[in-house]
Amino acid sequence: MSGGSISRRTVLKGAAAGAVAMSGIAPGIARAAANEKFHVASIGSGGMGWGDINQVASHPDVVVAAVCDVDANNLKKAMEQFNCPGFADYREMIAQMGNKIDGITVSTPDHTHAPAAMTGMNNDLHVYCQKPLTWSIHESRALSNMSKQKPDLVTQMGTQRASTEGKRQAVNELKNGIVGQVVSIYGWSDRPAGWWPQGQDRKPGSDPVPEHLDWDLWLGVAPERPYKSGSYAHFAWRGVMDFGCGAIGDMACHIVDTPFYAYDLVAPMTFRVDCDDTTADQYPSKESVMMTFPGNQFSARDTIPFTWFDGGILPAASEIGMPDGMDVPQNCCAIVGEEGTLLVGMDGDVRLFSGGKEHKFESGKLKPRNHYHHWVDGCLGRAEPEAHFEFAARLTESMLLGAVGCRYPGSTLFWDSEKMIVPNRYSAKKYIERTYRAGFEVENL
Ligand SMILES: NC(=O)c1ccc[n+]([C@@H]2O[C@H](COP(=O)([O-])OP(=O)(O)OC[C@H]3O[C@@H](n4cnc5c(N)ncnc54)[C@H](O)[C@@H]3O)[C@@H](O)[C@H]2O)c1
Repeated sequence: MSGGSISRRTVLKGAAAGAVAMSGIAPGIARAAANEKFHVASIGSGGMGWGDINQVASHPDVVVAAVCDVDANNLKKAMEQFNCPGFADYREMIAQMGNKIDGITVSTPDHTHAPAAMTGMNNDLHVYCQKPLTWSIHESRALSNMSKQKPDLVTQMGTQRASTEGKRQAVNELKNGIVGQVVSIYGWSDRPAGWWPQGQDRKPGSDPVPEHLDWDLWLGVAPERPYKSGSYAHFAWRGVMDFGCGAIGDMACHIVDTPFYAYDLVAPMTFRVDCDDTTADQYPSKESVMMTFPGNQFSARDTIPFTWFDGGILPAASEIGMPDGMDVPQNCCAIVGEEGTLLVGMDGDVRLFSGGKEHKFESGKLKPRNHYHHWVDGCLGRAEPEAHFEFAARLTESMLLGAVGCRYPGSTLFWDSEKMIVPNRYSAKKYIERTYRAGFEVENL
């Protein structure tokens, strides 16, 4: 399966060598010749996938060579848009098109991220994968390890907001000590309320599968269950444990990536989730998550407390260094330091507070950047994307502990990141790694 794609890569790399010699770009990251187009295939072409593939396609050096979707209606729309072949099964697409493509975008529900991304990497394809990087911690670790083994592959998680000027500048300013030594970090989101169901029991019974949907392929690696209209496909799967990662999985990679970049956070030592309506099928409708990260050269103390709220819970203004009585905005991260607080909104709006007052945050110091084009440029040897899988895995693994912890509400759990175990709850292993459904196993996962 991989032979074909390697042969295209070998040709591209050989041609790229000349371009590299002339341009001075480090040979290690050179990918395609200057006059070669980057050929990409999308996996999941409806929903966010439609935006993803159109954004990638708007890069002048990109050709969309194939599309894949398990929903025949979404597939047809994408095939017409890009005038290219379409597939329902990404495994078939990569087997047939591997020698004609250089990279893939993965925009499926979370449980299919790792299987699709790893199939791509097994076949030496560059990968742009939606957030959270994976459904399980084990999968994140495996993708991270694979990207270390294949450093020539350019990877990027779909946290497009990380490329906003504001968020990039916030990372630089935090590194330069704008809030002094970091004392604590907060992140919060208004999801899932009003967006998708959480905290509910599984709906009984089944409905006929729509003719345009391949339900078996949609389920993929997840355990089999009957189709239920409006409950899973499309969009509503987020709060269902077998498919999504709940509000923290859905939103935290967008919201708290800034301090992970700035302070090189790796993994917490402990985590605890407070919530009261986790069900056997769904994550809770709201929760408070508390983690303790080890301190480092950026911290005021020997630990860095990290707090996450979702479902409408907000921190008090005074708790995060905002003046009392000031409205706390939604979908935000607060980095509280010894000398002030930086409030970083999900969309890159940044505010600075200290001494009980708001101060002007000087923005506009960086050039705007398109996250999708940055990945393509990386694949073409012209850039080095920061949301690569090694970073994405670190961030995702920590946030997925929230999805694990809601099964043990109110318990402080220890995390052995190296061994990927919860030493005081060995039963958590099944939430960290799962057995894939027969027929959907993936090499290296
Ligand atoms: N970065 C962002 O701002 C952002 C925004 C929304 C969603 N997302 C992410 O994008 C991903 C998709 O979310 P969504 O809201 O578009 O979901 P969705 O359910 O609305 O759409 C998913 C699409 O993928 C297709 N699909 C499902 N399983 C597939 C498979 N095995 N192979 C090929 N196609 C498959 C579906 O038919 C559908 O077209 C999620 O990971 C989500 O977290 C990111």
